[in-house]
Amino acid sequence: MFFDRHEAGERALLVHCDFFSAPNHSAAAFSRESAETGDTAEDLITDTPSADALVVDTLLVDSADISIDVESAIEGESNIYNADHYEPCVNEFIDLARSAGVDPIELVTAKRKKATPKFFIGKGKVEEIKALVEQNKIDVVMFNHALSPSQERNLEQELCCKVLDRTGLILDIFAQRARSHAGKLQVELAQLRHISTRLVRGWTHLERQKGGIGLRGPGESQLETDRRLLRERIKWISGRLTKVNSQRQQGRRARKRAELPTIALVGYTNAGKSTLFNKVSQATVYAADQLFATLDPTLRSVNLPQIGKIILADTVGFVSDLPHQLIAAFKATLEEAAEADLLLHVIDAAAEDVNENIRAVDEVLVEIGAGDLPVLHVMNKIDCLPSVQPHTDKAGTDSDDMPYRVWLSAQSGAGIDGLVAALAELLGGAFWRGTLCLPAYEAKLRAQLYSVGAVTKESVSEQGEYQLDLCFPRDDLERLMATANVPLPE
Ligand code: GTP
Repeated sequence: MFFDRHEAGERALLVHCDFFSAPNHSAAAFSRESAETGDTAEDLITDTPSADALVVDTLLVDSADISIDVESAIEGESNIYNADHYEPCVNEFIDLARSAGVDPIELVTAKRKKATPKFFIGKGKVEEIKALVEQNKIDVVMFNHALSPSQERNLEQELCCKVLDRTGLILDIFAQRARSHAGKLQVELAQLRHISTRLVRGWTHLERQKGGIGLRGPGESQLETDRRLLRERIKWISGRLTKVNSQRQQGRRARKRAELPTIALVGYTNAGKSTLFNKVSQATVYAADQLFATLDPTLRSVNLPQIGKIILADTVGFVSDLPHQLIAAFKATLEEAAEADLLLHVIDAAAEDVNENIRAVDEVLVEIGAGDLPVLHVMNKIDCLPSVQPHTDKAGTDSDDMPYRVWLSAQSGAGIDGLVAALAELLGGAFWRGTLCLPAYEAKLRAQLYSVGAVTKESVSEQGEYQLDLCFPRDDLERLMATANVPLPE
């Protein structure tokens, strides 16, 4: 990977910009310096009479024992920021930065009418950030926005430190989390495409892929060489990915042939998908308290009571404004969700921004073509909500009394039985369950039934007949039996 990895503890300054329509707003900053000098919010407003928004830097002040009656400091002003009142996207940004392994030291918020072409933020803000970078020995400045290549370059020059935009940040997290060969290739491709527009410095380390000798053509500048190397690498990875994707598609086709229903776990990052996946499948999938712990779909064949064999797919965590390069890069991964028979939308019911997260996931589902699939909402982490017990919500109408929401704790396991029962109800109508008696000469059909995973139990009668307990999608079973000219008992 070409992006520098963030060592744990790399010191980051985070920048979030709010865009508003009314002109002439200005912001006053309340930070540790203000706290140390004994400033109060009122002092600050008096010092900065034109300020009509107070930006409280809580990353710094939360350790200081100060209580500010911000609301009364600026009467009637709604644009007040503190740790509890950040917009969801700012909280998410801080979580993303922490997930990337950096140490957020400082948060700077700015209010602007529109972005400036040169620095994205105003010159004054750049100066303020520059001073903070020097003061706090900041290694990287991260923006909660997509920056143009020239904005990123100008900021790096001006601030004399590394600058990363939101896309770069998410790519970096993905790069750290990708585990499978395909996942790593997908991230690298997205990274290369991202940096190919930002290529201004030497990427001579690319030579290693090519071998140094004869690398530089006559009259070819370093930049041209870099661009050419980058193009070649992109081409090579694209070729590899095409192969990997076709292997994946073959796998999907084989599963379809085996007629196994697929249930895909989708959800906002950190909602608890992998933990639920583990609980349901008793598999050991990496679950960690970091955003995007899962980047590759993990598939398990699971035998669920009353349902039989299904495929459970764990997928990449979603986030709001997932960069488009990533949706494209992870298309193959996300197809797992788009082609599922049922989606389990796992939701962190204890999260502050629960509705925002649901909305962000719904948007990505539409974007990947999975907007119309049947969905069961799984409200996870109810162990953090003392007043909520495991239960299932049903539509409760005459025409539809199917479960649409299950409340559980994937960690403690409370409510997992309710989830399995809900799945049985949702998928069950389409299943055939019963005992089939086959004469000994139908050994081929018996073998086929085993190979598709339809048989749950077998015994042999005194007359030598196979007694097979079956549980399988009714349509598929009827088709299979029809090919052997054996009717399915009523
Ligand atoms: P991504 O891979 O980032 O998409 O995350 P994920 O949705 O797969 O989440 P994961 O299963 O990795 O869980 C994230 C964190 O939430 C971990 O620290 C889990 O231990 C925790 N967690 C999961 N389920 C529960 C739960 O029911 N209760 C509590 N309290 N924590 C949970």
